Amino acid sequence: MTEPTQPSPPQIDPEFIPRHIALVMDGNGRWAQERGLPRTEGHRRGESVLMDCVDACIALGGVEWLSAYAFSTENWRRSHSEVRFLMGFSRDVLRRHRDELHEKNVRIVWAGRRPRLWRSVLRELEAAEELTRANTGVTLAMCINYGGRAELVDACRALAADAAEGRIRPDEVTEQTLTRYLYRPDMPDVDLFLRPSGEKRTSNFLLWQSAYAEMVYQDTLFPDFTRQHMYDAVLEYAKRDRRFGGAVDKFAK
Ligand code: IPE
Ligand code: IPE
Ligand code: MG
Repeated sequence: MTEPTQPSPPQIDPEFIPRHIALVMDGNGRWAQERGLPRTEGHRRGESVLMDCVDACIALGGVEWLSAYAFSTENWRRSHSEVRFLMGFSRDVLRRHRDELHEKNVRIVWAGRRPRLWRSVLRELEAAEELTRANTGVTLAMCINYGGRAELVDACRALAADAAEGRIRPDEVTEQTLTRYLYRPDMPDVDLFLRPSGEKRTSNFLLWQSAYAEMVYQDTLFPDFTRQHMYDAVLEYAKRDRRFGGAVDKFAK
């Protein structure tokens, strides 16, 4: 089967390309239910869409990190069978795609909480991290059993333990210190926070890192998401005026 022709990436000044895109892969269940299918069919559809998103980031050039929200710390509330499917599916997606991602020079990393995560998923994540460790292209952060609050709690626990041991002084704690205790201390701040599916909320994704992210919400459900949607989001991002709290007075003397 030949691959359908893909749209070319927009020409954008490199200065306005987001360095880090956070992607909430949402709307799978609704996509399936609208078609009279079990929710899991929507998740299955998302597999090739995620790979397309990685390709879009590569084609854009300048995107260094793509963080994909695949399973949240709140998703354990779902039915036992959906949770079981999502765990097995995450493991299989990693196994199916790690070689091709490696060939594309993608570095795969995991961000998330260890307790409760299936050991087989953890093993696949570790294998993918190991294989792609030295790659220099896009970093794909698979956020599995990830929650922004959980990440901050885990960071505070580790920091407090170091303080109790006398390794760090409480009055020396800065934003940089806290960052060192996050799941991925090397993760840059999120520039573009992208959520398809029509929901307009963060759902506990990368809370610390998204403090100054530009939010782009789209109505498309994730299984229908294409490279063009990613390009449209980046074009919208490129038009935003990011001030980070600063201001310029055009009429000041
Ligand atoms: C996102 O799609 C996938 C995960 C949360 C794992 P959903 O399963 O949340 O789909 P909707 O939002 O119910 O349509
Ligand atoms: C966020 O989507 C989590 C993932 C996409 C993995 P949810 O569907 O779980 O979030 P809510 O329930 O809409 O907040
Ligand atoms: Mg959802």
